Amino acid sequence: MFTTPSHGQKFFIVNKFRQFYKYDISETDAHNPQAALRAAQERAAQIYGTKQTYFLTNGSTSGIIAAILACTKPTDKVLIEKNAHPCHLNAVKLAGCEPVYDNTNDIKAQIITRPTYEGFVSDIVKTPGVYLIADEAHGALYPFSERLPQSAVQIADFTVQSLHKTAGGLNPTALLHSNCEIDPGDALAMINTTSPSYPLLASIEANVNFLNSKRGRAKIEELIDNCLSLGIDNPNDDPTKILIKSDIATPGIEDEKDNGDYKLFLCGIGTDAKKIERLRRVLKKS
Ligand SMILES: Cc1ncc(COP(=O)(O)O)c(C=O)c1O
Repeated sequence: MFTTPSHGQKFFIVNKFRQFYKYDISETDAHNPQAALRAAQERAAQIYGTKQTYFLTNGSTSGIIAAILACTKPTDKVLIEKNAHPCHLNAVKLAGCEPVYDNTNDIKAQIITRPTYEGFVSDIVKTPGVYLIADEAHGALYPFSERLPQSAVQIADFTVQSLHKTAGGLNPTALLHSNCEIDPGDALAMINTTSPSYPLLASIEANVNFLNSKRGRAKIEELIDNCLSLGIDNPNDDPTKILIKSDIATPGIEDEKDNGDYKLFLCGIGTDAKKIERLRRVLKKS
């Protein structure tokens, strides 16, 4: 075939990457590459109940940047949190805006982190005239279970979710949802390659369909049941982000983070009963 990609699904560079090449297809229809993607994203928007949902192959990071670029102009003030993920400040800088850390009258947009890494979830408060961007990087399962905190996807103006963190997606797949009059498509085009990874895009479509399926939803409920069965009095709002006092020994179990007070054990759709059982056994002995 006289098309990209030049490797033609054959490997000849490094043998161990053979599998990567096999799946690295180009557009299904080189003359109309956007049609299938557009249709898949429209179906996703229906699933989430949003105006637009975009598939991201460069993480929530790219979604935050695109959202800020879409709803601000240079010199606008953007309210961000002091300890936010670095992409928040980077987005503000890239847009030529001014980061502010205290609420003032003249802010154009606000980025909130919801949930925090540790699973604390704040109320979603919209200020009239201020675009609200919800960083839900760690909350991609929220739209699919009533036992998880409420998702911002239908409330905030823009919401980003990393599929790779909790929802079983490949690194670094994510979603950008828009709920307002602004379509962030042009802003995304400014920061994205024109040659996205089609296998990653296809995996996002399958991932969203799975989360929304009976089987996917049942798996999320099973995950919540397994987490709750540990009987831990979690101080946060999300049962899948298990916090255990740092002075409790958990030998042989890798945690995501230890801040000196609490150890964070992150669970996601791939955390099976066996893993939870191992944690239960270790906690019993401690
Ligand atoms: C709160 C938060 N927001 C955004 C991001 C960026 O997400 P991604 O890795 O999908 O670009 C992260 C990544 O760790 C995060 O923790």
